[in-house]
Amino acid sequence: MSKLWGGRFTKKSSKLADDFSFSISYDKCLAKYDVAGSIAHAQMLGKCKIIPKKDSDKIVSGLKKIEKQILANKFKFDLKAEDVHTNIQNALKKQIGPAADKLHTARSRNDQIALDIRLYCLEQIAFIFYGINNLQSSILKFSLKNKDVIVPAYTHLQSAQVVLLAHHMLAYVEMLQRDKGRLLDAGDRLNVLPLGSCALSGTSLKIDRAFVAKKLGLKGITQNSIDAVSDRDFVIEIISSLSIIAMHLSRISEDLILWVTNEFNFIDIDAAFCTGSSIMPHKKNPDILELIRGTTGKIYGNLSEILNLMKGLSLTYNRDMQLDKPPLFESVETVKQMLEVLAALFKGITVKKKSIEKKIKNEALFSVDIMEYLIKKGVSYREAHDTIGKMVKGCLDKDKKISELTTSQLKKYSQKFSSDVKKLLNPKASVLNKKSFGSTNPTMVYKQLLKWKKKLNA
Ligand code: ARG
Repeated sequence: MSKLWGGRFTKKSSKLADDFSFSISYDKCLAKYDVAGSIAHAQMLGKCKIIPKKDSDKIVSGLKKIEKQILANKFKFDLKAEDVHTNIQNALKKQIGPAADKLHTARSRNDQIALDIRLYCLEQIAFIFYGINNLQSSILKFSLKNKDVIVPAYTHLQSAQVVLLAHHMLAYVEMLQRDKGRLLDAGDRLNVLPLGSCALSGTSLKIDRAFVAKKLGLKGITQNSIDAVSDRDFVIEIISSLSIIAMHLSRISEDLILWVTNEFNFIDIDAAFCTGSSIMPHKKNPDILELIRGTTGKIYGNLSEILNLMKGLSLTYNRDMQLDKPPLFESVETVKQMLEVLAALFKGITVKKKSIEKKIKNEALFSVDIMEYLIKKGVSYREAHDTIGKMVKGCLDKDKKISELTTSQLKKYSQKFSSDVKKLLNPKASVLNKKSFGSTNPTMVYKQLLKWKKKLNA
């Protein structure tokens, strides 16, 4: 009873082969989806009179009992039975006797596993969607709390221009929103029933695939039995979406890691999310953020693994495909954890306003503002760029601030300058002067904050 395919064999399989090939150690987490699929399948077999109604009822009530055990974490997995399908089949047989042998009618493990993974993915997409929402809310709360703080922003990790801290934060929120969209897109495509494809060619039995799809709440049925048992593109799509999420979490972490350094000194993180050094007593290290950054590599590794797994397989099913599960499960579980940790960490970030204020006194941060001042006075972009470049260089050489230049010194760079240009040399003016939609203009950023507040609460 321990294998689903013994008939053709007169010899027991080698223990070495079993140890190498059994998947129960990891596919057991598909048990609840496997049972759900089997319940719908058995109901269909009964409705279509492929098996007697009383057998179908027996199977369904037996499976429901097993389902209860699984959901309560009380189902005892037999690690000597090959996989999750065999485990549940054997448990059913024990429970209801010979009627259990009819469950696998018009079904193969090839279409069965394709269904199990799809159901798993659909549920996990919902969890991850929720995890992203939670992180977005955490970032939003942090932004609202610090909505007037202005920080330097960087290109090439060199000080560039000033922006509202909230504007920087909302960039992450936008990225995370697209991450949710990618997951939902992938979910939409994989939301179809492969069951009924059987091993690869379908069945001569008069099954009702649409009925099973409806019972399982799936949006449709696969259109080609070969495609249905052969492809794992949907697993690749999920891991690739997870890789992009991880990449975003890693970049958020990298920003925070920089900001917490003595050199930047923009923020402090709650000690509960830091660790010390075993030798340097003064250290408070952002290890958790570093681990989010580091773990991202693991997700990319999983993406590479599944792409390599699939690329050389002839149609249709090949046993290699069993190995789609470890990278999928690991990626899903890891990203959920990364999202949760980062959302919690954001709650404990404090902003070091005094220290930031010192950094935004650097007048080079306003070079574009004064360049645009000249452009508004009719100077061409090229000439204005050149003029400000020379001015910044002149000030650097003489160790002077632009605001310290007299009007006549200013006019040496351009006749269009008058003393009012100095009003531009401060962070508030810089953000207030931005006019384009999507810019760091405070009115626009506050509107965005409110928009996200509504959206994320909904
Ligand atoms: N454990 C297998 C998998 O995950 C189930 C399908 C087995 N099918 C087969 N023909 N051996 O892919």
